[in-house]
Amino acid sequence: MTSPGVTEPGAGPGPLLAEGTTADLFLLDDDRVLRRYRERHDLSREVAIMRHLGAHGFPVPQVWAAEGLDLVMERVHGPTLLQGLVAEEITIPAGAQLLADLHHRLHAVPPPEGEEHAVVHLELHPGNVVLSETHGPVLLDWSHARTGPADLDVALTGVLIAEVAVDDDTEYTRGARAFLAAFLAAADGDPASQVDAALRIRDEDRSLVPGERALLAPAAELVRHFCSL
Ligand SMILES: Nc1ncnc2c1ncn2[C@@H]1O[C@H](COP(=O)(O)OP(=O)(O)O)[C@@H](O)[C@H]1O
Ligand SMILES: [Mg+2]
Repeated sequence: MTSPGVTEPGAGPGPLLAEGTTADLFLLDDDRVLRRYRERHDLSREVAIMRHLGAHGFPVPQVWAAEGLDLVMERVHGPTLLQGLVAEEITIPAGAQLLADLHHRLHAVPPPEGEEHAVVHLELHPGNVVLSETHGPVLLDWSHARTGPADLDVALTGVLIAEVAVDDDTEYTRGARAFLAAFLAAADGDPASQVDAALRIRDEDRSLVPGERALLAPAAELVRHFCSL
């Protein structure tokens, strides 16, 4: 069944790019990507935030259309920061600095009208950053974004990376640990003050499997440790 939306009814929207937790991503053509939510979903906050940030020069994909469960946006060409790190095309210190800079730039954007706090992304990890040749780093995946304290955004990124770092010892988890240390050293503010709140947000994530949930407490501990250095 096709959801009501901005693509032709009955027509396949295009090759599947990614299957997310709540939405599928399709490539419509060389310039456009469709994010199609699977369940009842209000797109208005996500779209308003993306447009607000774009208008202030923050690097987000341009929104072309939003209707029903469908969000059509600009396709950003390039590898994700995560792919760049794994391929060793970008070093851990450089990638960590890039992620800290994106936090800094995002939280410096004036709050949307009537809001006290700036926009926070709340999933600002290397898999959601595309290293575009034309626009520089672009931040994707605004489904969790809202307004809130900047320290919460940094703490949540810390916990997300730490969840990888505290898993079984491999080259990948050691890389995540080094990345986490470099990220927290480069980040602004007082993220330690928001680790408990970040942990609660992760704990409420319905997509977590029990094995992942068990990593949350050690992950939070690791973030607190690096914040105290
Ligand atoms: N605007 C876009 N341009 C290019 N690729 C995209 C775009 N949006 C998403 N993608 C690709 O799809 C993947 C998943 O998209 P994302 O928005 O992060 O959803 P989720 O993490 O919920 O699956 C991204 O990692 C990226 O590879
Ligand atoms: Mg994502």
